[in-house]
Amino acid sequence: MTFDLGTELADRAGESFSLHEKYLNPAMVRMLKTIGFDRTYVRAQGQYLFDVNDERYLDLLSGFGVFAVGRSHPVIKKALRDVLDADLPNLVQLDVSLLAGLLAERLLSHLPGQEKVFFCNSGTEAVEAAIKMARAATGRNKLIFCDHAFHGLTMGSLSLNGDHSFRDGFGPLLADTVRVPFNDLSALEAALAAGDVAAFFVEPIQGKGVHVPAPTYLAEAARLCRAHGALFVADEIQTGIGRTGKFLAIDHSGTLGGFPNPPATTTLGGAELRPRDPHTAGVDPDLVLVAKALSGGYVPVGAVAGKRWIFDKLFNRMDRAVVHGSTFGKNNLAMAAGLATLAVLEDEGLIANAALRGESLLRRLGALKSKYEMLADVRGQGLMLALEFGPPKSLALRAAWALLEKATKGLFCQTVIIPLFTRHRILSQVAGHEMYVIKLLPPLCLTQADEDWIVRAFDDVIADCHRMPSSIWDLATTLAGNTLKRKAGT
Ligand SMILES: Cc1ncc(COP(=O)(O)O)c(C=O)c1O
Repeated sequence: MTFDLGTELADRAGESFSLHEKYLNPAMVRMLKTIGFDRTYVRAQGQYLFDVNDERYLDLLSGFGVFAVGRSHPVIKKALRDVLDADLPNLVQLDVSLLAGLLAERLLSHLPGQEKVFFCNSGTEAVEAAIKMARAATGRNKLIFCDHAFHGLTMGSLSLNGDHSFRDGFGPLLADTVRVPFNDLSALEAALAAGDVAAFFVEPIQGKGVHVPAPTYLAEAARLCRAHGALFVADEIQTGIGRTGKFLAIDHSGTLGGFPNPPATTTLGGAELRPRDPHTAGVDPDLVLVAKALSGGYVPVGAVAGKRWIFDKLFNRMDRAVVHGSTFGKNNLAMAAGLATLAVLEDEGLIANAALRGESLLRRLGALKSKYEMLADVRGQGLMLALEFGPPKSLALRAAWALLEKATKGLFCQTVIIPLFTRHRILSQVAGHEMYVIKLLPPLCLTQADEDWIVRAFDDVIADCHRMPSSIWDLATTLAGNTLKRKAGT
């Protein structure tokens, strides 16, 4: 049998849902069909998806943040083709590859203060590596994480997950973990006080719910960790590589936190980078984790960047040169995708664009708050934004809201993302379980026209939410009724 991809795709077109139902995850198929998201996409470009009828959708999910440079980017595609065409010796294992060395060097040039890099294949693998590094480096076991934290879903990273809906049913997880409220320095200090903590893992902006801490929180948390001999691990897997309008989200802390601003030393993607030094800038992490966007959306990759002394404790002898790693880590396609992604960010000024569009969207969507009582908050940084909803005041709407609450906490937002999709062709997501938060995580190449599209769509759909009767509340009542029936087993 000879293999031809084009023939496979043409012969089996239209079978994706039935194949997934039969062989993969029927719950996913059921969910997509229930909410009307069961489209057949055939093409993708930049921030857009195109379905079988050539309808264009604005993708505010970007594959959970991997398509920062946009889909089907010609520079990333060319880099991958070039790797294949060069017939490079990939994954020799008893060798060291040039591309991995180049990507480490390029990445570190954007991470002042960090000296070494470890490459793996995903975000959660970066977290697992950081857990092991922290324990090896400090000789301590205890790990601190935050309420609502998300660091991945393998057993180590799941042990640092702050949401019961992910953890339940998979225990026992790692012992020696301590949960503290996000943005609470006193709780962190108390957890560190015994001097037995290996590391504090924190997302600079929490992905679940898009919670932004006080400007001084991260810098102070890093200082507390250092004072108590614990590592400060910045999980920038979602926020990093330009998402928030700077290369890392912690780069905002030095400027917002009342620290003296050192002169800029370099730029990336049009955005200013500041040297991250404990005396001059806000946050100097011991380890920084990135993944998602570094892949260019094509080849899974994760990276732990950190201080030399930590790496030296892990890879401390020749017989421990492979004490941690993964067969596919540092593969040529991933390394080339990473190099190409960093080049595209710079060449196209995408980080500056994320800052500009983010600020504008925050302002324009925020202005809707005065029009709509149920829009409680609009927040975020760069192109990681959230709209939070709250209960209505008017009597008619309150009864409908109560019905939704009885069915499933947070169901309201599901009913908002449906018309955003079906009526306005905007793909968005609810920011976490039992939340009233819709999250926007678009590619960083968003344009003025896209921005107008987003504001128009939210304005229309949120207006509908404030009318009774309306198509949204009809849909909501149907969804709630079905859920209640399912719960009652009828
Ligand atoms: C902050 C953060 N850490 C870790 C992860 C896990 O990354 P992956 O899904 O690549 O394992 C994610 C994924 O969403 C994330 O947002």
